[in-house]
Amino acid sequence: MRTTTPEQPSAPTPADLIADPHGSYARLREAGPVHSITGPDGLPIWLVTRYADVRQALADPRLSLDKRHAKPGNYRGLALPPALDANLLNMDPPDHTRIRRLVSQAFTPRRIEQLREPVQRIADELLDAVAPLGATDLITAYAAPLPIAVICDLLGVAPQDRRDFRSWTDALIAPDPARPEAARAAVGAMIGFFTGLIARKRTEPGDDVLSALIAVRDQEDRLSEDELTSLAFLILFAGYENTVHLIGNAVLALLQHPDQLAALRADPALLGPAVEEFARYDGPAPLAIRRFPLEDLVIGGVTVPAGETVLLSLAAANRDPGHFADPDRLDLARRENGHLALGLGIHYCLGAPLARLETEIALATLLRRFPTLTLDTPPDTLHHRPSLRARGLLALPVRF
Ligand code: HEM
Repeated sequence: MRTTTPEQPSAPTPADLIADPHGSYARLREAGPVHSITGPDGLPIWLVTRYADVRQALADPRLSLDKRHAKPGNYRGLALPPALDANLLNMDPPDHTRIRRLVSQAFTPRRIEQLREPVQRIADELLDAVAPLGATDLITAYAAPLPIAVICDLLGVAPQDRRDFRSWTDALIAPDPARPEAARAAVGAMIGFFTGLIARKRTEPGDDVLSALIAVRDQEDRLSEDELTSLAFLILFAGYENTVHLIGNAVLALLQHPDQLAALRADPALLGPAVEEFARYDGPAPLAIRRFPLEDLVIGGVTVPAGETVLLSLAAANRDPGHFADPDRLDLARRENGHLALGLGIHYCLGAPLARLETEIALATLLRRFPTLTLDTPPDTLHHRPSLRARGLLALPVRF
């Protein structure tokens, strides 16, 4: 990745942004509010780094998420078929408004609060399984299976129907350039999985979100078949991928800040603000979904031409000293956090109440059951996923 901003002589490469996102984004943010950079595929990108600009842009209706508003030849994202692509994160109003309204009832804080007991049960079962071992990889044993089980229960994916979802998402989020067929195979497997699942639910509906959406499609015709499949796809993958990483990043942050860990153990009332602080400090989604200006747009004093690709850096905004006092400090008691880790505006994370509930329960249960939790490897041997979009650990070996 190369920046053309004159005051930025040595721009971070994608490898820098993956290895040290906070340091790299800080250098970009200090150098200027908006950077014109060349992405890994050689196409131009406008990267926005400051809190005030990112916040404003997230809620700006002149920034479209619909790829049809990309200038021809200007955007070469992963080409997904309509059965996966016709989802909320590629849509503007009025389609976005219609579909979001159909699903939002299933994700209100009140509905999600009803999941407290089942989520607690899943967390306890996972820790029961590893407790006798004294050590484990917390990502594989806990941070990943917990959100996968929760979102599958919510959607109505029976245990025998669950697949190796993580290998599919890996193939999409961090595709191996040497094996483009792996991404294609994952896409084929996903479409097959969701069409099969929807066909089964049509004949045997259950008390779950997917059955309810199928009824809306078949009885009221308020959703096309592609929109139905894409929505199931989005809810499943958005529903666990980010949550796995928030839980993993939060545990690592705690283990590296013993004073904060002690404060949280001493005062369970800190848990709510702590989850917000983990999302701000090292959130799992460093970048918002790419956006395309519908007209030439001034962002942070820079004119961004219509149809070019805009990336809003949530990670850079969340550590902007122009908005947060002492932004590089993990402070679980931070007040009026106002982070942007879950987005803002009409695309604000649909699953935010669920993500908060799962992260709270996952952390509280882990700390309660494992009072001697420590890292089981030197911190410099930990590796993050090789992705600009997903900030999460590949493994987190712990001892307890
Ligand atoms: C820690 C966990 C999570 C994080 C950090 C996160 C982050 C985000 C962000 C930043 C956006 C907005 C993207 C943009 O405007 O560019 C978003 C949207 C979305 N999230 Fe989440 N998310 C999380 C968990 C979940 C969960 C558990 C679900 C489960 C249903 C979910 C479903 C969605 C959906 C469907 C959207 C699209 C909403 C729309 O376009 O109207 N997310 N999420």
